[in-house]
Amino acid sequence: MLERIREEISAAGGWISFARYMELALQVYYGAGDRQLGARGDFITAPELGRLFGRTLARQLQEIDGPILELGAGSGALAETLQKELDREYLILETSGALRSRQAARLGDRVKFLDRLPERLHGAVVANEVVDAMPVHAVGWRADGVVERGVSTQLSWEERPASSALLEEAKAIEVPVPYDSEIGLAGRAWMRSLAERLDEGAIFVIDYGFPRREYYHPQRSMGTLMCHTRHRAHGNPFERPGEQDITAHVDFSALASAAREAGLEVLGYATQAQFLVNCGITDVLAQANLESALHYAPLAAEAQKLLSPNEMGELFKVLAVGRGVKQPLLGFSRGERSNTL
Ligand SMILES: C[S@@+](CC[C@H](N)C(=O)[O-])C[C@H]1O[C@@H](n2cnc3c(N)ncnc32)[C@H](O)[C@@H]1O
Repeated sequence: MLERIREEISAAGGWISFARYMELALQVYYGAGDRQLGARGDFITAPELGRLFGRTLARQLQEIDGPILELGAGSGALAETLQKELDREYLILETSGALRSRQAARLGDRVKFLDRLPERLHGAVVANEVVDAMPVHAVGWRADGVVERGVSTQLSWEERPASSALLEEAKAIEVPVPYDSEIGLAGRAWMRSLAERLDEGAIFVIDYGFPRREYYHPQRSMGTLMCHTRHRAHGNPFERPGEQDITAHVDFSALASAAREAGLEVLGYATQAQFLVNCGITDVLAQANLESALHYAPLAAEAQKLLSPNEMGELFKVLAVGRGVKQPLLGFSRGERSNTL
């Protein structure tokens, strides 16, 4: 892997953008095996904790007609729960061959796999912890201008003048200098292509991140890059490339404007805790308690992880954008915060 990256950097004249580096490293990371997710993997996601997240999300998806398209389905845990709860046509688009095989083994013919986005879309689109895995450009704001932070053959940071597209984006962001952060051009392009295809329905993006003002907060002057290996989080993306997860937080304002530019409406934006409470997570818990008191304790622990401000409750957000959908959506009936985007 290291050799492959070095070769590409040399062939490109000794420097590649961080986005290209992240893309290469994650292609190998997600493509090589299927051990990323879960208690014994590198990180754990909400659907990996148990069925509570999926059962609660299903109550929201019930309000949207049509098929469900899940992007980046990981181990297939969320698909399994949603499929059981909703009994709808379920489509998956997964870029990792290894994870797609894992999903196919778990879900069989209950789901249909797509190789690319269909020309036209309707129904509900769900992406949980997918945008944080999309390549980001690394940018430095300096006293004498904006630089792009890329990767040299030594696998270390090297600054170059920013390309015009990146410069334009960076100039629209106000930060105190010196300041380093990321700009998710790929995430925006992804949202644009989904939005342009959506005839009727809603896209739910669930991930960790902030509205723009908080994302580029003066105190966050070292950016949001984070790497995960065996449940250890650190900030060095050049450690063992291809063997660790590399992520960046999501700029939800940027995703919302990409959707709006393609003609979609913002249907709601809230913290994960608020969204799940609005969807009735406490009813799902109470029902589980009635079904079996024995199963209640692990479910309560799961709820704690999903809702607690110190765990996933506040850092994770839910953004819904769409077209032709009856509002307000259940998940945004209270504490909706799209005015912060
Ligand atoms: C952090 S995992 C999350 C998996 C799952 N959604 C969950 O919550 O457990 C990221 C997933 O997104 C996939 N992925 C990354 N980029 C993608 C893209 N552009 N389109 C579809 N899937 C993508 C990865 O292969 C992986 O399955």
